[in-house]
Amino acid sequence: MTQFPDIRENIELVGLNTLHVPARARFFVEVRSAEELVQSLDWAAAENYEVLILGGGSNLVFAGDFAGLVVRLAIPGRRWEHIEDQSATLVLGAGESWHESVLYAAGAGYRGIENLALIPGTAGAAPVQNIGAYGVELCDCLESVTALDRKTSELVVLNNAECRFAYRDSLFKQTPGRYVITEIRLGLSRSRPLVLGYRDLQEYLGDTPDCDLNPLQVAEAIMAIRRRKLPDPAILPNVGSFFKNPVVDVGSFESLRERHPDIVAYPQKQGVKLAAAWLIDQSGWKGFRNARVGVHNRQALVLINHSEGVGTDILELAATIRESVVKRFGVTLEMEPGIVGEPVTGHS
Ligand code: EPU
Repeated sequence: MTQFPDIRENIELVGLNTLHVPARARFFVEVRSAEELVQSLDWAAAENYEVLILGGGSNLVFAGDFAGLVVRLAIPGRRWEHIEDQSATLVLGAGESWHESVLYAAGAGYRGIENLALIPGTAGAAPVQNIGAYGVELCDCLESVTALDRKTSELVVLNNAECRFAYRDSLFKQTPGRYVITEIRLGLSRSRPLVLGYRDLQEYLGDTPDCDLNPLQVAEAIMAIRRRKLPDPAILPNVGSFFKNPVVDVGSFESLRERHPDIVAYPQKQGVKLAAAWLIDQSGWKGFRNARVGVHNRQALVLINHSEGVGTDILELAATIRESVVKRFGVTLEMEPGIVGEPVTGHS
């Protein structure tokens, strides 16, 4: 039997990130339990190596190789807790596929996460950027997460408020490196209203009365809508939306609207959220491609690795897009995925 931690050296990560860019991990380990996670982190601490926690690799860009230990979180497990008449808690190990878990919950008749079907990545990564789509965010039904607090080396349970969720943001993004999520708990219900207000979803569902729909049918509708607009990372490598939708103050929005009456925007409690896809599209980038990377031709917010692009190709394209959006609209786009690794010259 192999001894744990089973640390491997010089591992290629091209197949472990959905942008499919090459990068090597100096050390690599796959963990299947909280105990294995602790052992691996202890090993890295003793050897003085930096650690990168990797889930599905669907929200990061490798700028180059990673000189420390990459820990692939593969903690399995799916179980129900607190099953009552109409509600139940679904507990997911951090390594479970998010999309498979959505289908599992929806197939069992439980509502809450069906609008989040087909989002790539793992359950443990979902709270980090508070995944959201079609009018639903993870924080709408997340009860708590269990995480290893690397400051105290203890497992802690953080409730929804403690996770400090906001749009594509959370405690885990605000305190990088501090917590490693091992398990999440979702409060689901058989009777909560389905969220069907998003325009694309309404158009797809047509006149079907809400009462005739079950959560699996909603998940299937979401899958069809996503497949129409968003590229499948297995075919066109990507990390979903590359930028957040920026929020500007009302005054700036009004002056933008004077110059661009068609601007797509959504009023928020504070300020106005602009559709980054529209800003990028209007700046002429939709469908752009160079020899290696480009912008999706059906969703301008998605960058694509067309042909053996490396992380820096993607980052250079992103920087050029940002500059042109600033120039045209005076709005600065913030990147959604994280950047890891040192730029290298070896891959070309
Ligand atoms: N639009 C354009 N050009 C385009 C695409 C869109 O002008 O190429 C305009 C359209 O007017 C459209 C508006 O932008 O109505 C918004 O587009 P869309 O409904 O596709 O949503 P989004 O704001 O671009 C967000 C999320 C997506 C999520 C969808 C659906 C962010 C950063 N992105 O995209 O999330 O699937 O809403 O809810 O909030 C992701 O995070 O990876 C992701 C895909």
